[in-house]
Amino acid sequence: MMFTMIKLYAFLVLLTAISSYAQQASDITTGFGAPVSYKDASLTVGRGGPMLLEDTEFIDEMAHFDRERIPERVVHAKGGGAFGYFEVTNDITRYCAASLFSRVGDRTRIAVRFSTVAGESGSPDTARDPRGFAIKFYTQEGNWDLVGNNLPVFFIRDSILFPSFIHSQKRHPSTFLHDADMQWDFFTSRPEVTHMLLYLFSDRGTPDGFRFMHGFGVNTFKLINATGHHVYCKFHYLSNQGLRNLTAKVARQLQVDDPDYSLRDLYNAIKSKKYPSWTLYIQVMTEAQALNSSFNPFDDTKLWPEDVYPLIPVGRLVLNENPTNYFQDIEQIALSPSRMVPGIKPSPDRMLQGRLFSYPDTQRYRLGPNFLQIPVNCPLHVRNYQRDGPMSYNNQGDSTVYHPNSAADSLNVSERAGVLSPAYFVNGDVSKYDNGGEDNFSQAANHYQNVLDEGGRVNLVKNLGSALSSASEMYQRRALDMFGNVSPDLKARLQRKLGLQ
Ligand code: HEM
Repeated sequence: MMFTMIKLYAFLVLLTAISSYAQQASDITTGFGAPVSYKDASLTVGRGGPMLLEDTEFIDEMAHFDRERIPERVVHAKGGGAFGYFEVTNDITRYCAASLFSRVGDRTRIAVRFSTVAGESGSPDTARDPRGFAIKFYTQEGNWDLVGNNLPVFFIRDSILFPSFIHSQKRHPSTFLHDADMQWDFFTSRPEVTHMLLYLFSDRGTPDGFRFMHGFGVNTFKLINATGHHVYCKFHYLSNQGLRNLTAKVARQLQVDDPDYSLRDLYNAIKSKKYPSWTLYIQVMTEAQALNSSFNPFDDTKLWPEDVYPLIPVGRLVLNENPTNYFQDIEQIALSPSRMVPGIKPSPDRMLQGRLFSYPDTQRYRLGPNFLQIPVNCPLHVRNYQRDGPMSYNNQGDSTVYHPNSAADSLNVSERAGVLSPAYFVNGDVSKYDNGGEDNFSQAANHYQNVLDEGGRVNLVKNLGSALSSASEMYQRRALDMFGNVSPDLKARLQRKLGLQ
């Protein structure tokens, strides 16, 4: 009898422990996991008295709140994103040995972030601006980031100009206003911007959300196949929803009525299972073609003509999963063109070369030196000799910390990665070569005459005129000269629009 009573007592104690644990599991806790005693008041000396330093629950809460914001991205601060997959539909292994392309039908998980460029993180996302369209592929051989835009060319062709270019588009240092004079001073001083401006001030500068726009890697990359042979490559990812743009008027109205229009549209489409998708293509150019090309294939203000370098289909990008936590998955995602995998390498494209440094550098500042350990940035496998630093979450246990070593857990260097990193030859006199004067207008002229239809030309003039109307006459006249090099017709129409003789 006594034994049964003891057993019953023990059972009741266990039950109480389980139920109190279950209750604890849903209790509010401090950051260090202790249950919070009271949540609606701080600890004070009497009802009207001062607060006490010993209120550690208050300090834990407030100190964390005080540090909630991290620096926003220096560019592309406003954005939204989603997860999904990439599926190989066509074999491109004769060009590229990257593991994600190895078999038709293979799927790789992806994270995508869309963005505007110049505005702050709270700015309207229907502004006239390029849209960032950046993809992280979680491949078996590391993360590959394809950090592109919705327009196929870029403003400048030497990275040293990027900080100045961005300063001219952001806020004036004294007025803290966007300033048409700064913008057009820069644009008209660097006419290599012309081709990009024809895209930006066309209807494609105001896409209807993120789903109805294309993506382009813009910079030139190098693909290496299993024998170590290379071709140069441009990436295109074309929307299966088609292209859809907003008129300048609607875009402007949406900036007032719904500053988060593009974010909302993407989120709602995925939530209602209308999964957006894009088809990934490559254009390839051999070394011999690059040497004999009539234009510089490493100049990101240029397109590669599709009749000479046709689009080769590769696969499908599908977005079918919304983030569960915006900050965790989208604000903290770190995308960089320097994150390449075996089979993909940089070309001598001067803009790409500068970007290879800039992104991881800003990410170490924006997110901290161990940003690659944040789950959304973390590769599927990582083993190396990097250790410590703030917030090291995966410090790789008790494994050996130096190379070379004779330890049992010594790591190998991948033979495959070696084959896929063949030596290449460069020569030339070291100097600063200004490439600003290299053919700034021929592709822009073709765009004006042959790519835009008459409706497109009318809207281009309207949009350019409206942007230029806020600039001083000196810059308007400089812009007229610049656009006159594209087409006398464009200059004449703009002249009329601006009311200049
Ligand atoms: C030398 C030229 C460039 C430099 C120095 C540069 C630099 C940067 C920096 C510092 C960031 C912020 C990254 C972060 O905080 O995580 C960024 C973001 C971005 N850049 Fe560039 N950029 C350049 C050119 C380009 C070009 C040509 C493209 C398009 C192909 C591009 C597309 C993007 C995109 C899409 C993002 C946002 C990535 C995200 O969603 O997190 N950038 N850029």
